[in-house]
Amino acid sequence: MNSPVETIVTLSLLLIFPRLLVLSMRTLSADPCDSTAQRDRRTLRSDQITVLLNGYSESRIPLIQSISATYTASPLVSSVLVLWGNPSTPHNILTQLAHNLSISSFGAASISIVRQPSSSLNARFLPRSYIKTHAVLICDDDVEVDPRSFEFAFWIWSSNRDRLIGFFARSHDIDLSRKEWIYTVHPDKYSIILTKFMILDSDYLYKYSCEGGPGMIEMRRTVDLMRNCEDILMNFVIANETNAGPILVGAKRVRDYGDARNDHGDGDGDGDGDDNGRIGLKGEEQSMKVSEVGLSSRRKEHRKRRGECIRKFHSLLGKMPLRYSYGKVVNSVGEQGLCEKGGKLVFCDQ
Ligand SMILES: *[C@@H]1O[C@H](CO)[C@@H](O)[C@H](O)[C@H]1NC(C)=O
Ligand SMILES: *[C@@H]1O[C@H](CO)[C@@H](O)[C@H](O)[C@H]1NC(C)=O
Repeated sequence: MNSPVETIVTLSLLLIFPRLLVLSMRTLSADPCDSTAQRDRRTLRSDQITVLLNGYSESRIPLIQSISATYTASPLVSSVLVLWGNPSTPHNILTQLAHNLSISSFGAASISIVRQPSSSLNARFLPRSYIKTHAVLICDDDVEVDPRSFEFAFWIWSSNRDRLIGFFARSHDIDLSRKEWIYTVHPDKYSIILTKFMILDSDYLYKYSCEGGPGMIEMRRTVDLMRNCEDILMNFVIANETNAGPILVGAKRVRDYGDARNDHGDGDGDGDGDDNGRIGLKGEEQSMKVSEVGLSSRRKEHRKRRGECIRKFHSLLGKMPLRYSYGKVVNSVGEQGLCEKGGKLVFCDQ
C-alpha cells in the first residue's frame, strides 16, 4: 500500500547498491491523522517490530550508524526509520547519511531517513502509513542496547501488547508538604517509561497524535511550550487507556550517552537529563537514584519542569492515570527448586 502521505524524496540508492536494503528519504506531506491514510490494522505484522530512531545532533551520526546497524541486523526488525528532528541540518548531510547507512547496515530490514515536518517533540509519535507492524520501538540516538536485551523486550511486549515496555523508568509522586504532583525516581516502583527506549503498540501513536478532545490538544500544546515531556504524555495516554502501569525490563548491557540536546544548552530535550554528559555502562543498574541530594541544579530544574508537565496533564485530563509498577522483568529464570518425580530429583519446571 503506497499512501499519498509519503513523498519519496530521494530513492533508489538501491540501484547503486543492489542489496535487500531499501533506502529512501521520506517526508510527511499531508495530514498524518487523515483516517484514509491509516494502514488497515488487520494487515499489520505481529512477529516483527518497527524501530523509530530519533536523530537530532549531527555529532551523533556515527552513533546512529552503529545503533541502526544493530537493529537492521535483527530478524525481528521490519524496518528502521531514522526520524530526523533537527530542521537546520542541511539536506546533503542527510543524503550522505542515507548513503552511509546503506553500506554499513546488514540484514533484511529496510532503513529510511525521515525528515520531521517540524522540530516539535510531538512529531516523534506521529502515526506513519509505512509502519507495517503492531509493535513500535521508540528510541533515542544516545542509547545502545545489546541485541539480546532488545529481543527480550520485544518478547515481553508480545505477551503484554497493551502495555508500555522499556529499560528506563521514573516515577510521579505527591509532595505531601506542597500537596502537588512531582516527577521523581523511586528505588522500588515506577510509573513512567522514558523514550530512551520504549516499545508500544503503533495504535498509541494515533491516539497520542490524533485524539481531538480539548484535553489532548492542550496536552500536546504543553509539550511544545515546555519543549519537554512528550514521553510523560505518552505514559499518560497509555495508562489512561489500560489503567495499568508500564513494564520495566532488565537489560544486560545498555550504553547511555546522554541527550545531545543537553550538550548545547538547548533545554532538556526529550531524555531524562539525569545522565547528562556521562558515558558509561549501566548493566543491571538502571540509574535508580533515590536521593535528590547532590543533584545538579540543572537536574533539579529538569525535574521541576517535568513535575510541571505532570501537574498540567493531570489538570487537563481531570485525573491521574499513572499507575505504579513494581519490580523488573529479567531474562534469566535463575535457580529452580528440585522436585521428586518418578523417584528422581528433577527441576520442578520439567
Ligand atoms: C559518511 O561516510 C564518510 C566516509 O566514511 C564520512 O567521511 C562522512 O562523514 C559520513 N557522513 C555522514 C553524514 O554520515
Ligand atoms: C481517557 O480515558 C477515557 C475513558 O476511558 C476516554 O474517554 C478518554 O478519551 C481518554 N483520554 C485520553 C486523553 O486518552
